[in-house]
Amino acid sequence: SLAEKGNYRHFMAKEIHEQPEVIARTLGHYIDVGAGSIRDDTIPVDFSEVSRLSITACGTAYYAGLVARHWFERLARLPVDLDVASEFRYRAQIHPADELPLFISQSGETADTLASLRACKAAGQRLATIVNVPTSTMAREANVVLPTLAGPEIGVASTKAFTCQLATLAALAVKAGVDRGVLTRDNARGFVDGLVEAPRAVADVLHLEAEIERIARIIAPASTALFMGRGPSMAVALEGALKLKELSYIHAEGFAAGELKHGPIALVDDTVPVIVVAPFDDLFTKTVSNMEEIAARGGRIIAVTDARGAHAIGTTAEEMIVLPDAPAFIAPLVMTIPLQLLAYYAAIINGTDVDQPRNLAKSVTVE
Ligand code: G6P
Repeated sequence: SLAEKGNYRHFMAKEIHEQPEVIARTLGHYIDVGAGSIRDDTIPVDFSEVSRLSITACGTAYYAGLVARHWFERLARLPVDLDVASEFRYRAQIHPADELPLFISQSGETADTLASLRACKAAGQRLATIVNVPTSTMAREANVVLPTLAGPEIGVASTKAFTCQLATLAALAVKAGVDRGVLTRDNARGFVDGLVEAPRAVADVLHLEAEIERIARIIAPASTALFMGRGPSMAVALEGALKLKELSYIHAEGFAAGELKHGPIALVDDTVPVIVVAPFDDLFTKTVSNMEEIAARGGRIIAVTDARGAHAIGTTAEEMIVLPDAPAFIAPLVMTIPLQLLAYYAAIINGTDVDQPRNLAKSVTVE
């Protein structure tokens, strides 16, 4: 049946652990693994005819869009507008003819996202949606439906739907790069090969669960936690903060690491855990400088990094969650997993209702 927890205590735990399998299933839909290329038939969009992408979503789905903006800009030189649906729907409606609106939603029923989709449709735009529920209203009303194959998600806080949204968006960005002549077939193959490693990399992270549970004990007693990163890792940090506040009711703020000195640093003292998302990418040394600023003020740094990053961070962090090295392209997928587990275990320690946090709904179908 749909709603079986199996051997897990919570749906959320089950859904976190399903990620290697459902990411692989989603990638298999969009990628021809043998050929190392995108399956054009499953993405009926010609990006050579698109000069702007407009992404609209709510909550966790919005953060998937925030990650993907970097991918579309880098791989396809495609400008991306991005907004939360509750803002988009009330902004001046412009709808350029060469723009592709893209709506991301697990449920396909979120009221603000649906209203935004309908506004674009009424303006005559051809639009696409990434949805997890294939029978949903958004799937019915969109011109192009890109399914995430995460299966039913029961936990109110989204986990596997998010990483499947990222997998879908990554495949879409590679297709856009090829269509727009930015990526050669060989370049595209490199990115596809990286993506194909994601399920295995995520499975490797799940093996660190006991260690992450131990580190969650530092976060659980805190009244505020900070999450920061740069580039795609900023979006991952925002998602990590959202998960922690939703599940454990600890106040959490995610921000761009470069904004540290424009506000968040005022909150830093020796009671505040600062979770830093720091893959060893081209922005790594900048993020390490921000870590040093926090360490100098007594902040308790928990660095989420990879083997190469761990070497460079050294003793600046109080704790490190060291993930196996993975291609930089898939870092957002991989680095999300420990943040899900930190939030899950902080909530367990604090005794909150993991699958049904207070005041939250799985799908917000009224404004
Ligand atoms: C609610 C859920 C979140 C979800 C958001 C958007 O707030 O609790 O987990 O990210 O709605 O939902 P959607 O179904 O549109 O992705």
